[in-house]
Amino acid sequence: MSQEILIRLAQEDDCTHAETISAWYIRSSQERGTGIATRTPEYLKKKIKSKNAVIAFVGSELAGFCYIEVFSSGEYVSNSGLIVTNGFRRMGLAKKIKEAAFNLARDSNPSAKVFGITTSDIVMDINSNLGYRPVSFGQLTQDEEFWKGCSSCKNYDILTRNEKKMCLCTAMLAPSKKEKMKLDLENMIIQKKSEDNE
Ligand SMILES: CC(C)(COP(=O)(O)OP(=O)(O)OC[C@H]1O[C@@H](n2cnc3c(N)ncnc32)[C@H](O)[C@@H]1OP(=O)(O)O)[C@@H](O)C(=O)NCCC(=O)NCCS
Repeated sequence: MSQEILIRLAQEDDCTHAETISAWYIRSSQERGTGIATRTPEYLKKKIKSKNAVIAFVGSELAGFCYIEVFSSGEYVSNSGLIVTNGFRRMGLAKKIKEAAFNLARDSNPSAKVFGITTSDIVMDINSNLGYRPVSFGQLTQDEEFWKGCSSCKNYDILTRNEKKMCLCTAMLAPSKKEKMKLDLENMIIQKKSEDNE
């Protein structure tokens, strides 16, 4: 029997899930061995309470999570911490959660460029389909608060040794909602011009 999938903005009541989600990150970093930052339950509660997180359920069971965070005084917004628990993988949940987090990031911060860093080729594909492109670390926020988040990753020494210019993650960046609207408009105008010339 198929179960209903629910993906929504996390609400204050969801703070009860913070311990579980935090434990998922720890388990995932052990399983993958490629480096994934861990997050404390307190940190996750802050994200949930500030309406900066997306949560997923399959039936009544907690299935996935992702959150956003604003940096450099609103110039950048990150999508971070995408995770789907083992029993619910390969059902398309990550794609849906990421899309919801991407829309949340853009809608709540229309002038901010959206970015993420990842070692996961699955996440790179999802990001590419949403309009992200790979960039060097220099094109991301230089806000210390963001890079502090990497300190629990097992590769943090590589990041610091390279003065935060490179690490094992791939950086990916998408235009802000405002930039995207402008690009779409420019493309429409170019298309219109080429149609007129035909
Ligand atoms: C990476 C992760 C979020 C993917 O979640 P998911 O819900 O299973 O992903 P989806 O079902 O949405 O799949 C997305 C695509 O990846 C593919 N995919 C998912 N898991 C895969 C795997 N283990 N091997 C190969 N392909 C895989 C799917 O087939 C799908 O491909 P499609 O676009 O061609 O249909 C999940 O495995 C996870 O939580 N891993 C641990 C934490 C992590 O690595 N997070 C990312 C940190 S940036």
